[in-house]
Amino acid sequence: MKKQTILVTGGLGYIGSHTCIALLESDYELVIIDKLINSNISVLGRIEELTGKTVKFYNFDIRDELKVKDVLDNHPIDAVIHFAAFKSINESIEDPLLYYDNNVIGTIKLTEALQKRGIYKFIFSSSASVYGNPPKSPVSEETPRSTLNPYGATKLMVENILSDLVNANYLWKIGILRYFNPVGAHASGLIGQIPDKIPNNLMSYICLVANGDFPHVNVFGGDYNTPDGTAIRDYIHVTDLALAHVAALNKLEHQKGADVFNLGTGTGISVLELINAFEETNEIKIPYKIIDKRAGDSESVFADVSKANKILKWKTEKNLIEMCEDSWRWQKRF
Ligand code: NAD
Ligand code: WQD
Repeated sequence: MKKQTILVTGGLGYIGSHTCIALLESDYELVIIDKLINSNISVLGRIEELTGKTVKFYNFDIRDELKVKDVLDNHPIDAVIHFAAFKSINESIEDPLLYYDNNVIGTIKLTEALQKRGIYKFIFSSSASVYGNPPKSPVSEETPRSTLNPYGATKLMVENILSDLVNANYLWKIGILRYFNPVGAHASGLIGQIPDKIPNNLMSYICLVANGDFPHVNVFGGDYNTPDGTAIRDYIHVTDLALAHVAALNKLEHQKGADVFNLGTGTGISVLELINAFEETNEIKIPYKIIDKRAGDSESVFADVSKANKILKWKTEKNLIEMCEDSWRWQKRF
């Protein structure tokens, strides 16, 4: 049987690069478009080294319609996985237009080009941020959506645009994947998330404290209504997340219209539980200080993953220890 060719936008980024490895290991051919805004060309070589396969790579912005058209004209693309976007909540509050332009306009231009070329299989990276401050956890796909910042709003807008697209044209088959809190890195230690100088997310912060770059972790809030008073999230290993994309792609074949999936472990972990797990796993002391809550944070957000388990026939395999071990193995290179 002819191998399927997948176009991956943002394929050299954190989740994209792990997904590219999973796709190559499942025998897909890949074409990547990535402007290297938040990634490095060395990742391409590592993906090829780890899989023993070659990938066609294009370095340009997905908003460049002519270049996108050129790629679609020159490769037999069967489906698209669209990771390319900006992802910092803080930056989206400071510069919302940047986010609406890249995340929303970028997706509009891309889907327009695909539609013109008759390519209708599409997987979109959405986020738990479309649930805003959910009334309760676990959060199912039916939980009403609302957003707390421009980043979340871009994800919600794109979800709505994609759902309008399938209503307008029955040929579209779209998977909307809502990621909870991705952490970890490839077990080889060769691929991971590019460390920010000032990290936004908890696991990156813990790693930089372990590295000696910061003296302690600021724990945002110690009086939540949770067993240890700190906020609860659903941390998912990035290689489990990557495999969900392969499952979602397989499912698209038999899908009509759009379908939405929560991707998490289904287990809530508190800030202190994550810090403790990291300390025990890596035998490194992580000092912390409990400070005020962070504006816009929710008390407890974890996923109901029963739909993804059942329909995608996918479930997470990696535990908290592997998340902490792999995050640190990657981070200590820097
Ligand atoms: P990332 O920043 O590591 O990767 C995104 C990649 O897209 C980067 O390589 C960047 O260079 C590229 N890119 C961005 N805009 C582009 C453009 N206009 N044209 C071409 N390339 C462009 O981010 P990630 O963590 O891998 O996230 C991937 C997707 O998943 C994003 O859509 C993000 O919003 C979403 N998501 C991420 C998380 C998370 O915590 N990491 C959680 C939920 C959803
Ligand atoms: C996790 C918990 C913090 C840092 C965001 C987006 C989500 C997804 C992942 C993109 C919270 C606490 C954090 C620190 C802390 N991204 N914390 N000290 O906010 O759950 O999710 O990133 O789509 O959509 O909303 O992730 O890692 O920032 O925070 O105490 O230095 O850790 O308060 O409870 P968050 P996070």
